[in-house]
Amino acid sequence: VFRSKLEFFASAKVSTSFPHPQLPEIAFAGRSNVGKSSLLNALTRQWGVVWTSDKPGFTQTINFFKLAEKLSLVDLPGYGFAYAKEEVKDAWEELVKEYVSTRSSLRRVCLLIDTKWGMKPRDHELIELMERSRKPYQIVLTKTDTISSIDVARRAMQIQENLKLSKSLVEPVMMVSSKSGAGIRSLRTVLASIARF
Ligand code: GTP
Ligand code: MG
Repeated sequence: VFRSKLEFFASAKVSTSFPHPQLPEIAFAGRSNVGKSSLLNALTRQWGVVWTSDKPGFTQTINFFKLAEKLSLVDLPGYGFAYAKEEVKDAWEELVKEYVSTRSSLRRVCLLIDTKWGMKPRDHELIELMERSRKPYQIVLTKTDTISSIDVARRAMQIQENLKLSKSLVEPVMMVSSKSGAGIRSLRTVLASIARF
């Protein structure tokens, strides 16, 4: 399914403009600048459909993409962006929370964590919300090219241990670099199993 052409089909700033839930959906969530949009590009090997930026807070709406008529991929706006105005920040966060808790076609949330910085309070808040609303999710450690592989492994183990004790809907931690391509194939395989046949 990841060989299919990636098509943009909707963008939403408010929950009333979410498109009708038709395809199984995977969402990419996480702090601003962790590499959500870049990961979508790397997974689909299609650059230019999803826009990325080195400026945090770049993606400000929920953007819906699809692969053939089999899978929908959703690029969420990042949270925790320090420079945005308070009211703008709150609006994005509310939008993301509303999306995660109400979207009926949502099959998996990939929660992206920058390997170098690890998990922050906002990430834990989102995990609580996913547990409460019974949404399966998985942690994807990003930008693994920026630190040593020993530190990457250490970070993954630390998170895995931490979550396995108390959480029920969490899938195994994956590690990727959109820059070097490391781990992208494995993640693609895992996510492809969610697509419609
Ligand atoms: P927002 O839309 O602001 O929430 O950010 P985002 O999470 O979509 O991040 P985006 O994909 O736009 O990437 C942010 C920055 O990180 C860009 O400068 C990317 O080039 C860089 N980046 C993304 N993935 C990687 C990676 O695997 N390794 C490295 N070194 N940099 C990366
Ligand atoms: Mg983005």
